[in-house]
Amino acid sequence: MHPIIGKSKLSPNVTRLVVEAPRIAQIRQAGQFVIVRAAEGAERLPLTIADADAGAGTITLIIQAVGKSTEDLVALEPGEAIRDVVGPLGQATDLLEHGRAVCVGGGVGTAVMLPLVQGLSRNGVRVTSIIGGRSREWVILEEELSRYGEVITCTDDGSYGRPGFVTQALADVITDGPIDVVYAVGPVPMMRAVAEMTRPSAIPTVVSLNPIMIDGTGMCGGCRVSVGGKTLYACVDGPEFNAHEVDFGLLSDRLSPYRDFEKAALEKRHCQLGPQIAEVSAAATAPVGAAR
Ligand code: NAD
Ligand code: FES
Repeated sequence: MHPIIGKSKLSPNVTRLVVEAPRIAQIRQAGQFVIVRAAEGAERLPLTIADADAGAGTITLIIQAVGKSTEDLVALEPGEAIRDVVGPLGQATDLLEHGRAVCVGGGVGTAVMLPLVQGLSRNGVRVTSIIGGRSREWVILEEELSRYGEVITCTDDGSYGRPGFVTQALADVITDGPIDVVYAVGPVPMMRAVAEMTRPSAIPTVVSLNPIMIDGTGMCGGCRVSVGGKTLYACVDGPEFNAHEVDFGLLSDRLSPYRDFEKAALEKRHCQLGPQIAEVSAAATAPVGAAR
């Protein structure tokens, strides 16, 4: 069992949980993730390790409540515990060692960005973070990221920071000067747009993919993606890949069938729980498995 030590809300449907997991806290590296089961028999959820404190023996998970399983997980309170936390899983990020990096985080994808930005900053790399949300209330981790370098915050509706998508800000940053690498995490259309934007100038670009995952050990094939014409498994070969080689169309197609299943499970849960969670569920449009 993994007790929950802390809990806070970052946006209307994004929650931060600090969870006791001493061994994982000691050895995890940027880019790695865990698979959690809130309770016996619960769905297995892949979640990025957004932060860790080896001294305190805790890891930080940032969860977007997009369906029944993620809502069950974020309903847990400090003092309660998560049944299973398996990890660290996946390959660690190949972090730039000097030069300039631009980290683009869309919505809850910004949580995946945080350990990368911390690692890059430790390496002495100059980091510009570009983060975005639909409106002010959906922007997360701005203050935390600003400890490690410049942050450009964007909102789709212009209610805070720079108006427009993160990709519009990226276009200006690319024009401004040389960049050694771009890391991008967020919705698939965002990552695809970033890849197309950096391709003409051949800026090395890394994306963290979020296909459906089940076992997380390369056995089930659920997380297969096509990269450079090869079939790879995001859980063991990734989750980060060269953005210019990713088949984003296939990734998007493979995510879409699960939306209907998740919508049905969510509606069933809300019928049981009543109207008090209707506000949050209105935002729950992303597919199952998108919790990272
Ligand atoms: P969202 O839909 O609110 O978008 C967040 C930001 O991404 C927007 O504010 C905008 O700046 C940018 N964006 C969105 N669509 C874009 C487009 N077509 N072109 C350019 N920029 C665009 O995001 P959200 O609801 O917070 O995030 C949910 C999505 O993020 C889910 O689909 C989830 O699967 C994905 N996600 C992926 C990972 C990963 O590891 N790759 C991690 C977390 C979340
Ligand atoms: Fe099963 Fe990756 S999650 S192969």
